Amino acid sequence: ELKDNTTIVVLGASGDLAKKKTFPALFGLHRNNFLPKDCHIVGYARTKMDRDEYINRVKSYIKTPTKEMQEQLDEFLERCSYISGQYDQDESFARLREHLEDVEKGRAANHRIFYMALPPSVFTTVSQKLKKNCYPDRGIARLIVEKPFGRDLQSSRQLQKALEPDWREEEIFRIDHYLGKEMVKNLLILRFGNEFFGATWNRNHIDNVQITFKEPFGTEGRGGYFDDFGIIRDVMQNHLLQVLTIIGMERPISFSAEDIRDEKVRVLRGIPAIEPKNVIIGQYGKSLDGSKPGYLDDDTVPKDSRCPTFCALAVYIKNERWDGVPFILKAGKALNEQKTEIRIQFKDVTSGIFKDIPRNELVIRVQPNESVYIKMNSKLPGLSMQTAVTELDLTYRRRFSDLKIPEAYEALILDALKGDHSNFVRDDELDASWRIFTPLLHYLDENKEIIPMEYPYGSRGPAVLDDFTASYGYKFNDPAGYQWPVQSTVPNKL
Ligand code: BG6
Repeated sequence: ELKDNTTIVVLGASGDLAKKKTFPALFGLHRNNFLPKDCHIVGYARTKMDRDEYINRVKSYIKTPTKEMQEQLDEFLERCSYISGQYDQDESFARLREHLEDVEKGRAANHRIFYMALPPSVFTTVSQKLKKNCYPDRGIARLIVEKPFGRDLQSSRQLQKALEPDWREEEIFRIDHYLGKEMVKNLLILRFGNEFFGATWNRNHIDNVQITFKEPFGTEGRGGYFDDFGIIRDVMQNHLLQVLTIIGMERPISFSAEDIRDEKVRVLRGIPAIEPKNVIIGQYGKSLDGSKPGYLDDDTVPKDSRCPTFCALAVYIKNERWDGVPFILKAGKALNEQKTEIRIQFKDVTSGIFKDIPRNELVIRVQPNESVYIKMNSKLPGLSMQTAVTELDLTYRRRFSDLKIPEAYEALILDALKGDHSNFVRDDELDASWRIFTPLLHYLDENKEIIPMEYPYGSRGPAVLDDFTASYGYKFNDPAGYQWPVQSTVPNKL
């Protein structure tokens, strides 16, 4: 439950993450009455600013198209204050503590939630300084942390070791914002709340699974950070593997956080390290018409960078349910569209009656335009027995037209306020996920002769992609040029 007497401290309050995600999400929670009563929000960063300057800055982070929202924003801003300080000095954090004490004066408890919207370089120091100087003496402490959680198994363990003396696992909330997305949260319900999905959810019926992440823009402006990480560390080891885990896991004993996370760890432990032979990597070049720059044209990127901006790879789960079923993860920047989806392709119907009838597919579209649809065969209405591919379609926008889908960060911050760990990454889970990816990452880092394949900005990816997915059994079989009728109002094309 939500606790009164809570203060949220946003560290890195003037950074990009705070601006784009944290403050808009906090405002969303405020507006919908989901913040604890009297909840105060303290920003902390290095930039020197007085309160007015800070308030104006926070204001500029948040869109308020209506008068009602403007009023709500004014109320929200009354909750906010700011302290500037260094990330490595006790005196700075002592000033933060004094400010917290001022804010908390007369309160029955002093629960403090520290949200670390910080670069990895200061992460450990700040967590130590917070413990030493700002740990509450009559309330609960929680530490919300953001990726990157290291760059391989070893560095992730080091980071974890650095936190351990100060913060207990139950106080730590590791964010993977994909776990806050509505459709990702729906996966457990779809799988375990529907007998017909549950019954076919295995190697006897499913041929292959694809989890796809596409973005229509390049690293524009973020090349510095990105080049150090690459697409595999940026979205695959975390976001896409999380989705795979929930698709692949066994039914948890209950929906409690530890029961869910136990099952997630179990399925991850059944996944062998990815083998380089099951991987292709790419890097975008200029668009075909020359109007969009290639990755190497970005000034913040080294001219000889081998950093992958695209990757497709196949993962196997070695257990009774999944043995032999490839899970194909694909992720890329500067592609032809924006889309995250899960595509589960079923096996061919047994031979005898039909010739080349297309396979069933269950498609779960995470974003944009959240939907679940099943591609299936049906008789074309009329006097012949001709078949047609059609779909059972649950498009949220149509079916739940008067419901708002919350932002991932709203959902996650609310969970952290309530102390619910279900949608956060546990330490052993993080470890298991790095174990799967680390050998591949080291192999790519070390073998300098491996150059990513170039693909044009705005294309579907490297030319070999279709052959790659076909080699794992994916059949692209839409005889009549079937296309899911995505609503035309959705701006999902470049
Ligand atoms: C972030 C990555 O974790 O996720 C970004 O660092 C990526 O590179 C982003 O763009 C994608 O998130 P979303 O919610 O827009 O799919």
